[in-house]
Amino acid sequence: MSKDQQVIIHGKVFELFLEKKDIKKAIKEMAGKINDHYGDQSITVIGVLDGVFMVLADLLKRLKMPVSLELVKLKSYQGMQSSGSVSKLLGLTSGLKDHHVLIVEDIIDTGETLGYLLQELRKEQAASIQIASLLLKPSVFKNRFPLEYVGLEIPERFVVGYGMDYDGEGRQLPHVYALSGSESLP
Ligand code: IMP
Ligand code: MG
Repeated sequence: MSKDQQVIIHGKVFELFLEKKDIKKAIKEMAGKINDHYGDQSITVIGVLDGVFMVLADLLKRLKMPVSLELVKLKSYQGMQSSGSVSKLLGLTSGLKDHHVLIVEDIIDTGETLGYLLQELRKEQAASIQIASLLLKPSVFKNRFPLEYVGLEIPERFVVGYGMDYDGEGRQLPHVYALSGSESLP
């Protein structure tokens, strides 16, 4: 077994789930759709930290229109389960009135975090707001709002790598790993 097949984080076994090349392909496809939709229109990308940093680095290089970047922070996760409550929006440095806003996420699970962000951003009177997420767990997402660009739909499994963490670790992994079926949530 190659050393990339599994990783152990905080004593839990995670198995290779999405390889770097599949992630890159999904990002390329998303970028193509975003370029087609906006054309030469300037956009403001809002990246939701921390998990999105690798997605942003790869996605933004492929966007052809003028892009302003805002990095915000909005965490709902403690360990492996959504805390159910969302902390407030931090880090928005400029007004978004009349901007075309593209929110970029690493993964959407319940959609609670994004629901809150959308509610906050609507107060800004942007010209438009769209959402791009590399991963989506459709069986958990409550479909409360449209998602314009989704890289890959995945089953309800806890994943790490490519920016995503388990209790702070695993973000640097180039592939995405899923918690092994033989492991259980704390
Ligand atoms: P939501 O509010 O339930 O949609 O969760 C959104 C945030 O929780 C994401 O932006 C991630 O930061 C984190 N998250 C959700 N699912 C996972 C996962 O499987 N692994 C790591 N982080 C996750
Ligand atoms: Mg995120």
